[in-house]
Amino acid sequence: MKKIKIGLLGCGTVGQSVYKLLKLNRNKYLAILDGVELEIVKILVNDLEKDRDSIPGELLTTNPHDIIANKEIDIVIEVIGGTSIAEEYITEAIRNGKHIITANKDLMATRGQEILELGNEYFKEVKYEASVAGAIPIISTIKDNLQSNQITKVMGIINGTTNFILTKMFAERRSLEDVLQEAKDLGYAEADPTSDIEGLDAARKIAILASIAFSRRVKLENVYVEGITKISVDDVNYARQFKSTIKLLGIAILKDDAIEVRVHPTLLPLSHPLAKVDDVYNAVYLEGNAFGDLTLIGKGAGGLPTASAVVSDLLSIVKNMNKDILKVQNCSCYLDLLIKKIEDTISHYYFRMVVVDKTRVLSKIADAFASNNVSIDSVIQRKLPDGKAELVILTDRVLNKNMQSAREQIENLDVVIEIKSVLRSEKEY
Ligand code: NAP
Ligand code: HSE
Repeated sequence: MKKIKIGLLGCGTVGQSVYKLLKLNRNKYLAILDGVELEIVKILVNDLEKDRDSIPGELLTTNPHDIIANKEIDIVIEVIGGTSIAEEYITEAIRNGKHIITANKDLMATRGQEILELGNEYFKEVKYEASVAGAIPIISTIKDNLQSNQITKVMGIINGTTNFILTKMFAERRSLEDVLQEAKDLGYAEADPTSDIEGLDAARKIAILASIAFSRRVKLENVYVEGITKISVDDVNYARQFKSTIKLLGIAILKDDAIEVRVHPTLLPLSHPLAKVDDVYNAVYLEGNAFGDLTLIGKGAGGLPTASAVVSDLLSIVKNMNKDILKVQNCSCYLDLLIKKIEDTISHYYFRMVVVDKTRVLSKIADAFASNNVSIDSVIQRKLPDGKAELVILTDRVLNKNMQSAREQIENLDVVIEIKSVLRSEKEY
């Protein structure tokens, strides 16, 4: 029986699930690979003493060269995470003739181009489906199944931890810190969860998706990022009054030969397909010039859902190996489109502010908006104790730089006590 030998770099949440899935569906894989057996022959870890359930101890090593320089190994799966060590091991493995599968969005969003080009140079495949949206096959959907289209918009809930947190905060009125601990216990959050709640994890993923959708390399540094730490239950209550919810979205848009790529909490109408995607689920909404729009929904984090994407990449590489396909085209970025500055992007905005409750307040604020070309869509006012009031103002579609200068002017008005939050909104009300 022919065997394909695999080296696993990392044996944590994802690594252990990859091992389990290969056992669970072994017979199916044998059938679809014409009898070729997939065998994990070595697994790199930090700590040999850690309890790892069903993983045989003799497979474990702390020496990376047992894998990346091992002549027997055909394919290396990197599920360590982080950037510097992962990049070092992946590039050395490519140079040693291994195909690569990685779940590492941190690395692919910053050094993806270099790694994919190295793969091309050595005729080795580099696949990274698990790096975005866990179980959802979004990379292969855009790269292969929708390649007949020009994609014009990608909008996704692509961080499971923050979706889980926002869902629980809204439904159970719990604090962000409390729900974050639960997300950590369930294995959803990153080792450093600030990258989840500050939006960086989603930014890495939307950079990867924008690069594939628009054939233009987008790196983490090109993405505008705001996280969820300033969202309060008050914003949620107002969002409900506008028949909307609040989601952390990664958004990439192609228009007039320029692209914009951003991550921020967004008011989303309840009628939008993404609005009902809750808990740890991820979803990606796409627009293209032939299919119109479509939405994919699935589990965005957790061991087996992520292993599902890793092992599918593995099967597709082995199918190509079976067919002796040598030519690979890992990197599909060939355009040099302009990436817009955030100041030049256009959105609807939601302003919530505490003001002094007296006459002419509203007119002063309306003047500040008008003098910056910001048109108001609607206003809600609620009386607060101690001679204060809360104002919620929704704007029409306006340029970010106009919104920013209106915001500064309003902040300096003597009748405005505090601007509590400014959020973007995806749609008219
Ligand atoms: P994890 O549970 O922290 O596992 C990391 C593994 O790598 C551990 O086995 C650890 O060894 C090993 N490791 C770390 N540094 C090492 C080093 N310097 N040398 C040798 N081994 C080292 O991480 P994970 O959640 O499985 O995530 C792995 C990757 O998948 C990351 O890139 C992550 O962003 C990505 N990802 C994760 C999810 C998810 O839901 N968890 C979803 C999608 C993508 P020890 O076990 O000995 O400590
Ligand atoms: N921390 C990530 C999330 C894991 O919550 O989506 C999956 O990439």
